[in-house]
Amino acid sequence: MKYTVVLPAAGSGKRMKADRNKLLLELSGKPIFIYTLEVFEQDLDCEGIWLAVKGDERELIEQYVERYGIKKVKGYATGGAERQDSVRAGLEMAGQPEIVLVHDAARPFISPEVIRELAERAHESGAAIAGVPVKDTIKKAREGVITETVDREGLWMIQTPQAFRYELLMEAAQRAKDDGFLGTDEAMLVERMGHPVKIVESTYENVKMTTPDDLIYGKAILASRLQ
Ligand code: C5P
Repeated sequence: MKYTVVLPAAGSGKRMKADRNKLLLELSGKPIFIYTLEVFEQDLDCEGIWLAVKGDERELIEQYVERYGIKKVKGYATGGAERQDSVRAGLEMAGQPEIVLVHDAARPFISPEVIRELAERAHESGAAIAGVPVKDTIKKAREGVITETVDREGLWMIQTPQAFRYELLMEAAQRAKDDGFLGTDEAMLVERMGHPVKIVESTYENVKMTTPDDLIYGKAILASRLQ
């Protein structure tokens, strides 16, 4: 199933303890976001990439895109204060594809098989998101004391990509804006409209580069892929 992808890339380096946008940090000599772009560049079903970037980083990011020969980038949107704002800016520029994927530029290890499955499920039912079953024991605590051990059955850690029929996501995004609702992912916007969202089992490798220890894991993933 053909699709267009919107990649929010307008974050900071705060939790990474970096002095700049963490996506510009290098893993084995290449910026994190270039790995992400390369996955979509090589996917024949990807018809175009829209990047949401900070205004003052656009030139630098464009230079990297050119240097690494990424041809599918169709344009750049100006990101906002919240991730949801950046995604919305990207979606508004993306034309009107039948299927749109939203994927964090900070997740460079997404599997092409998962992308394919997501696009197909979204085509069938409107919305499908990537996730992995929770591995750890989950408890709730209040004031330092456990109040509940949560049943792990049916609990998922949610990732991106999140895939949608474009019209459905745009309607959900408009309603969220009208209601002043801020979600932590795109699926939440669709869920609150009462529309079912399918889950596609992804891989644990599809980690978001968030804190410094994620870089260690990222380097290990790259090394394992070279073996
Ligand atoms: O901060 P976090 O890692 O959760 O951000 C997820 C993705 O959203 C990253 O690729 C980041 O660059 C992007 N982002 C954005 N605009 C923001 C905040 C985050 O495009 N205001």
